[in-house]
Amino acid sequence: MKMSFDFTDLAPTTVSFRDDVIVGLTQQLKKTSPMHLYDERGSQFFEQICELEEYYVTRAEMEIFDAAALHISEALPSNCTIVEYGSGSDRKISQLLKLSKRIKGYVPIDISKTFLLKMSKKLWQNYPHLDIHAICANFLQLDTDHIAKIIDGYNPVVFFPGSSIGNLSADEITKLLMQTKKIIGGQGKMILGIDLQKTEEVLLQAYDDSKGVTALFNKNLIHRMNRELQTNIDANCFKHHAIYNENKNRIEMHLKALQDLHFWIGDYEITLQKNETIHTESSQKYNVDDFSRFLNTVGFKVESIFFDTKKYFVVLLLALKK
Ligand code: TRP
Repeated sequence: MKMSFDFTDLAPTTVSFRDDVIVGLTQQLKKTSPMHLYDERGSQFFEQICELEEYYVTRAEMEIFDAAALHISEALPSNCTIVEYGSGSDRKISQLLKLSKRIKGYVPIDISKTFLLKMSKKLWQNYPHLDIHAICANFLQLDTDHIAKIIDGYNPVVFFPGSSIGNLSADEITKLLMQTKKIIGGQGKMILGIDLQKTEEVLLQAYDDSKGVTALFNKNLIHRMNRELQTNIDANCFKHHAIYNENKNRIEMHLKALQDLHFWIGDYEITLQKNETIHTESSQKYNVDDFSRFLNTVGFKVESIFFDTKKYFVVLLLALKK
């Protein structure tokens, strides 16, 4: 595969969205998988979040990539391909491409098909010499043999920027790291973004912004249900509710019912009492030493650690322990 554009569609369907929502909303504590927030509309809202002044994550990470450009570039294996989990927009890969000539291939993986196709085609126009193979899939359920075939001939670098790892459960993180070990093998690397613990004030501003974009992002889940599951729920009956859970060091995003609610998804009856919430996403905030120790216990060596000046965020360069 040289200088080519390929696309593989392994995307979860509306059926799995429907099943997950039914299971999640018929439990005592209602919750849905964060993955469902990222349909095309949701991915667009998330991009708008990334541009908000209050959402420090984007700028902290860009500052790190700018400052550490040379170091990161030299640490990448020659003739490498970047495998990005949950790629979203082309902003982050574009920054990496500017900083290193060693990158010859790019494998963006995302569940939002339209969004993925738009971004990867745009990137291919800007970098026609890049070998791009876009995969529409849930990055937690990759077939590593399939990935190995796609990246054959290149040295793999798994790229998981932003604070996406913080959106996963402990089990999902372990699974993702085991999968990553298989993909990168002895020669490859992982570039991982970790969001750090900071004051509640800064966090709440970032996750409950003054323009209400995060609220729209969260409420899009209700609109998506109306679009895909034939419900007819008034999204105004829900309020975006972001809290900092101090015991767990995480921001939680909920949809709070403003009144008693009752609706059907097919034959399944869903009821919510006033003030009851649907937990839609969490964003874990880490301590870099604890997280590095954890990475070590699961077989990774932390080769370099890059902070932004405010120490809000950190980028880790990882390889497998020998
Ligand atoms: N990956 C983003 C983050 O953790 C997703 C996100 C944006 C988010 N806004 C949110 C997660 C609000 C929870 C709550 O920062």
